[in-house]
Amino acid sequence: MKITNICCIGAGYVGGPTMAIIALKCPHIKVTVVDLNEKRIAAWNDADVNNIPIYEPGLSAVVAEARGRNLFFSTDVDKAIDEADMIFISVNTPTKMYGVGKGMAADLKYIELCARQIARVAKDDKIVVEKSTLPVRTASAIKDILNHTGNGVQFQILSNPEFLAEGTAVEDLFAPDRVLIGGDSTLEGKKAIQQLVDIYTNWVSKDRILTTNVWSSELSKLTANAFLAQRVSSINALSELCEKTGADVNEVAKAIGMDSRIGSKFLKASVGFGGSCFQKDILNLVYIAKSYGLDEVADYWEQVIIMNDHQKRRFAKNIIKTLYNTVSGKKIAFLGWAFKKDTNDTRESAAIYVANDLLSEQANISVYDPKVSFDQIQMDLNYLETRSPEENANGVQVVASVYETCKNSHAIAVLTEWDEFKTYDWQKIYDSMLKPAFLFDGRNLLNKSELERIGFVYKAIGS
Ligand SMILES: NC(=O)c1ccc[n+]([C@@H]2O[C@H](COP(=O)([O-])OP(=O)(O)OC[C@H]3O[C@@H](n4cnc5c(N)ncnc54)[C@H](O)[C@@H]3O)[C@@H](O)[C@H]2O)c1
Repeated sequence: MKITNICCIGAGYVGGPTMAIIALKCPHIKVTVVDLNEKRIAAWNDADVNNIPIYEPGLSAVVAEARGRNLFFSTDVDKAIDEADMIFISVNTPTKMYGVGKGMAADLKYIELCARQIARVAKDDKIVVEKSTLPVRTASAIKDILNHTGNGVQFQILSNPEFLAEGTAVEDLFAPDRVLIGGDSTLEGKKAIQQLVDIYTNWVSKDRILTTNVWSSELSKLTANAFLAQRVSSINALSELCEKTGADVNEVAKAIGMDSRIGSKFLKASVGFGGSCFQKDILNLVYIAKSYGLDEVADYWEQVIIMNDHQKRRFAKNIIKTLYNTVSGKKIAFLGWAFKKDTNDTRESAAIYVANDLLSEQANISVYDPKVSFDQIQMDLNYLETRSPEENANGVQVVASVYETCKNSHAIAVLTEWDEFKTYDWQKIYDSMLKPAFLFDGRNLLNKSELERIGFVYKAIGS
């Protein structure tokens, strides 16, 4: 049986873009993306396609082509489940903030709610696809719920983790390094795997589609994120040593990256990684290892997080120390708030933690980010519960012009690697600042010699 109707539960950073691409590449399949969040669905349906809730280069054009043809966004979850042959679960799986596993384990309550809803609504056989990143062996819990509370219908559970990176989601989805599909080795399991393979082969070549058992697929996603984050923490650990020894981390990164066994990607020293995935997925891996009594394995991976926290704190400390050990009442300009360029996602962004440390020292922070609003910045700071919302609102301003943001500031901190930052009139910015004018480049983005020539005291990471 060919799949003709897909439903995806969760219209977020993964559900929205992945389903938009499937719909674009498979015009014969009806794709409905559902979410409980009415505001988010309304934004996906906004007549002006530039107002869709997720900013990704190229995404609005994809949505413009497929939306209303075979791509639909809705809050009617039951109806979409009922009509679908295949249901993707793409809901959030944040770190659990209560009870057993607090601060480490993945909170699977949204996943379980989806499974229960599918069990309640489904009247015919369905393939359920885990798109969310899940702890290894989650599929057995989903299967249990579906088989015990269902209406006697048959479910096949597949794991199909998403490897897209925010900021390049559309590019990644058009040409993935690989598509991973895990399923049962039973006849029905193999059939279900093939049905999902048949969807991807509409635009992905067969040799890039990897099929495995469910547990390998689930664990591979956590492992991929752990390895990527580990590279960032590894180079960041060396950045501190470079600062002490006179070595330059960019030169070290280039020298080691040319070794084909190491490779050049993900070796940029920075203020630290952010985003919704790396931290939560490593913590989840650590928790799983601990729960099997594998303490050394857990400690090994936990160090990646410890290093990342250290790097963020170290960056804030360096600003305070350089500004003569006090930032109280001083204006510090932040360039960027998103966790990386080309996304409006701010979850776990390093900027939040650096701002938090500086606000605790009574700094005045002025932020410019091309895609992030004042409200989002306030929400991010309030979430930490370090100080009251009023105090956060008093301590942080957001100005639409970068030149206003930097004017009369003592220092600038670059927190996101937006390309436009490289194109500014840095002489004009320098002239408007208090002297000495400091520039802390948390992304090693700007041209050191050029900025030093203008007169900035330029501090990069790791040199
Ligand atoms: N963001 C990434 O770059 C990325 C990449 C790969 C994998 N992932 C994984 O994909 C999953 C989703 O991540 P995201 O960034 O898209 O999260 P997100 O928070 O942007 O989106 C999740 C959406 O699911 C909705 N939702 C939750 N429970 C629901 C329910 N019962 N019914 C209907 N809707 C419901 C929420 O309202 C939200 O809009 C996570 O497991 C994440 O780890 C994320």
